[in-house]
Amino acid sequence: MNIREHEPLRLHTTLRTGGPARFFAEADTEEVLREALAFARERALPVFVLGGGSNVLAGDEGFRGLVVRMATRGVRFADVAGPVVEVVAEAGESWDALVASTVERGLRGLENMSLIPGQVGAAVVGNIGAYGAEVQDTLLWAEALDRRTGQVRRWAAAECAFGYRTSFFKTPAGRQWLVLRAAFGLRPDGAPHVAYRDLQDYFAARGVSAPSLAEVRAAVIAVRRRKLPDVTTVGTAGSFFKNPVISRGQYEALAARYPELPGHDEGPGKVKVPLGWILDHICGLKGARCGRVGTHATQALVIVNDGGTAAEVEQFARKLAGAVKAQTGLDVEWEVERVTG
Ligand code: EPU
Repeated sequence: MNIREHEPLRLHTTLRTGGPARFFAEADTEEVLREALAFARERALPVFVLGGGSNVLAGDEGFRGLVVRMATRGVRFADVAGPVVEVVAEAGESWDALVASTVERGLRGLENMSLIPGQVGAAVVGNIGAYGAEVQDTLLWAEALDRRTGQVRRWAAAECAFGYRTSFFKTPAGRQWLVLRAAFGLRPDGAPHVAYRDLQDYFAARGVSAPSLAEVRAAVIAVRRRKLPDVTTVGTAGSFFKNPVISRGQYEALAARYPELPGHDEGPGKVKVPLGWILDHICGLKGARCGRVGTHATQALVIVNDGGTAAEVEQFARKLAGAVKAQTGLDVEWEVERVTG
């Protein structure tokens, strides 16, 4: 195991912030992960496990313990048996590489989540989603390692307590468990799911009525490239906040003031409202800038960082949240996770 010292976290996060991790290891096997955890235990150090670093704000003070970057790779396709093919991916595998390989094999279920940055493990923890699909729709099980005992346990999808951008693995009890690998049940048949507005518009403009899986992937990639910044060239973590889920009564009161406000049913009596729309059309903050930090020119929910510190990003995020509160009374929650300590 190779442990680095004082590794700058801004090199490992797509928002490009973060001071030094006192210790830093890349776990490319389960064995190295176990060694890294033992190293931290012997020294009583806190541990933070990082995936692709695409959904975190690492603090300027760095991290006084050990940061482990998951780097296990590999995707296995089970023999086709029955209507569903089991696809098992290691936690450190690139999410989009997994999606690409399933689309190449004609397996349906992940294509709407093409080009989402990050890795498989974090995708499960955060129940990532886009264009009408979420990890929870196809996840069969996840295997996770208990940090305290070293035991590996398989969690069935129903035990993962998935919700909008959350899961059991985000709860205090779930944080004891590190996702090692995940299995998805994908279908070689059936029609892709293209009801989401942006995809409908894309195919209508091209006169395509029954798109193939590869065409859906191409469409998602084109829409994302048009609306979202490229994490390889711009400092960003995608959507910085979650979309608020409010009561139908609250929604109706807001919609009376802003008749164009979109809303999507999210369970009985609950409505999810797009915060990007609110920041854009109510607060006028699309493309706003404060020093080196701003909102993206074509998507107000996305914060972009052009060399600013974590403190600057945080200050800007507070400004956005304050504007939303003042205009609508809504409290907003970060989707991005803080790394401090
Ligand atoms: N909108 C605006 N102005 C803006 C941004 C959005 O008017 O500046 C409107 C859009 O036109 C649309 C609505 O708000 O009517 C929703 O926008 P969009 O379809 O872009 O999706 P979102 O709700 O802002 C969510 C996810 C994204 C995911 C997209 C597409 C969250 C927090 N974000 O964004 O995920 O790619 O849907 O499915 O749920 C991420 O999690 O990092 C992420 C990028």
